[in-house]
Amino acid sequence: MAHFTKATSIHDWFNQRLGIDTVNRVLATEYWIPKNINFLWAMGMILAVTFGLLLVSGIFLLMYYQPNIHTAFDSVNYTIMQQVDFGWLWRHIHAVSASVIFLIIYIHMFTGIYYGSYKNGREMIWISGMLLFVAFSAEAFSGYMLPWGQMSYWAGMVITNLFSLGGLHLNGLVEWIRGDYIPSQAFLDRFFMLHVLLIPLIIIALIGLHFGALRIPHVNNQDGEEIDFDVESKKYLAGDKANSKVIRFMNDFLSKDMAVVAIYLVFLFYLVFWNFGFAMDPINFDPANGLQTPRDIYPEWYFLWSYEMLRPFSTNFGLMTFAFAQGIMFLLPFLDRSKNAVAASRRGWFQVWFWLLLVDMIALSAMGKMPPSGIWYDIGFTAASLFIALWVALPIITIFEKKA
Ligand code: HEM
Repeated sequence: MAHFTKATSIHDWFNQRLGIDTVNRVLATEYWIPKNINFLWAMGMILAVTFGLLLVSGIFLLMYYQPNIHTAFDSVNYTIMQQVDFGWLWRHIHAVSASVIFLIIYIHMFTGIYYGSYKNGREMIWISGMLLFVAFSAEAFSGYMLPWGQMSYWAGMVITNLFSLGGLHLNGLVEWIRGDYIPSQAFLDRFFMLHVLLIPLIIIALIGLHFGALRIPHVNNQDGEEIDFDVESKKYLAGDKANSKVIRFMNDFLSKDMAVVAIYLVFLFYLVFWNFGFAMDPINFDPANGLQTPRDIYPEWYFLWSYEMLRPFSTNFGLMTFAFAQGIMFLLPFLDRSKNAVAASRRGWFQVWFWLLLVDMIALSAMGKMPPSGIWYDIGFTAASLFIALWVALPIITIFEKKA
């Protein structure tokens, strides 16, 4: 058994039992961050803060929301929005943050891709990040069901229908997922449980994994420099802070992070107060009606690119391209055959690949909102085919890449 002495202070009492000084050193004061990183490295912290806002606003909404197909719509649109003091504010914070978090996730992902921050020991950071992306997608979808409006109902119908897997006609699987033949009370109950309990728990565990995966390889830097963190941190601790290439995470780097977070929060709350409409589909202000299909059923903007991977093809092939799009990004660290973890601008063909992928995914998202006919169909089809071609080409163009 460990040896305990009479504590000299409250701090010492806890430290003897919980080793808080060691934890603080490993996770904060001696967690070393390169000096040469820009504001894009604050996106991770912005994501953590936005997730916190979603949790807090979600808890307030949960106090009045009713997961019942007869009362859910009114509990959101009348009770929370009109009767409860500041209910509208919590709802706007929740809806706007849910949409904006995807914008930040995409910026964070593309920053990682641009700087090659997913290889040479950082593979688990990328894989845990992709798992977070999937978990957030499931969280957003399940939350969309809860107001039980027309879009909740019909998007729920369309997405669960995908599980029949086209020509395989697995209708039993669709009914098992819904708990009924159509979206109904059992469906709302289980999506409610997923949204407020199971998926948030999974997200919290995954954030833990993501942060843990960062601890050993440390974050990359904008110059692709291989920093020896042991040597540089010793310099810092010896007092040669000016020549050391690293700074402490806490409080040094955190204060920089928080400056970017503060600017972000101004933007976020501008949207919450004055421009919240984009985060809520007008059709969802009509209560769910299983006898009236809306003319157009579209997913939220952040799902449009993957929706457009499905649409231009026949049902079975479309499901395959959709599954390809969801799965292939997980493999990025293994498909990129070059060892260069530097900015794409120094990587020859990879730079072309990067910008094509970005523009292609924007084009797919734009086409996902257009009717699938005429010129829109042609552009959508080309963009979806290019997406597949880009991922097939990646190992080929990177295997010949010269050392940067
Ligand atoms: C809510 C979800 C997420 C949170 C809270 C989060 C948080 C963080 C934080 C705090 C960092 C370190 C600082 C930074 O580079 O920003 C980081 C790094 C990283 N994240 Fe995430 N992340 C999330 C989602 C994702 C996703 C979806 C991906 C991509 C699939 C991803 C991939 C990465 C990569 C590759 C790095 C390493 C960057 C580097 O070494 O320079 N993360 N993340």
